[in-house]
Amino acid sequence: MSTSSPADPGTRFSRRDLLLAAAGGIGVLGAAGTGRAAEQAATAAPAGAPASAPPAAPTGPFTLPALPYADNALDPVISSTTLGFHHGKHHQAYVDNLNKAVMGTPFAAMPLEKIIAATYGVADKSGVYNNAAQHWNHSFYWRSLKARGGGEPGNALRLKIEASFGSVDACRKELLTAATTQFGSGWAWLAQDGAKLVVVKTGNADSPLNKGQKPLLAIDVWEHAYYLDYQNRRADYVGALIARLLDWNFAAENLGS
Ligand code: FE2
Repeated sequence: MSTSSPADPGTRFSRRDLLLAAAGGIGVLGAAGTGRAAEQAATAAPAGAPASAPPAAPTGPFTLPALPYADNALDPVISSTTLGFHHGKHHQAYVDNLNKAVMGTPFAAMPLEKIIAATYGVADKSGVYNNAAQHWNHSFYWRSLKARGGGEPGNALRLKIEASFGSVDACRKELLTAATTQFGSGWAWLAQDGAKLVVVKTGNADSPLNKGQKPLLAIDVWEHAYYLDYQNRRADYVGALIARLLDWNFAAENLGS
């Protein structure tokens, strides 16, 4: 088993990500690192933002990134209880299961995005795919949210949204519709598809990466993301998240040229 974290020279993270990672700031995915030390630096919690779970002992190449905010920072839209379970139990389980699944295989030395691409739709690799994709999706979801988010996107992103959807409100409505009509577990996304922006919904662990699209924002609509706070009222969770937590700056940083 490889004891080093996979490197990914083709990582999609922005210059801000890399600067923050170098400073030990907001966590990016393990795949963006160039070794366990780099990964640990990249996933360290920002000052004053305690992780919702104690760091687990290293058991493989992938580690749980620290939340980029305190576990009560998204209250009351997402409670600290939900965030603690979601990050510390559910996301941790995907990381643990991924480490077990790749142990002793060539996947252990591969960047996360390459694992996802190599196992998507491969029947006997579904265990690797599901846990790798869910690790990627959740790491991206945490960064799609922030305390006192929502509001209006910056000018460059607003112009792109208006060109694709007509208005920011229309984009928000498409996100809400995608998130509330996704049957069963899955995700709603704002993504870039060539020159235009699109809203897509995906089931289970799938993401726009599978279609060659570039994710900009993610909304988790698995029940574990909201059930403790909203029970069956998924629309209330999504509506509040879009209005009060979405980090449009993160979406703008993910925009490609
Ligand atoms: Fe989740």
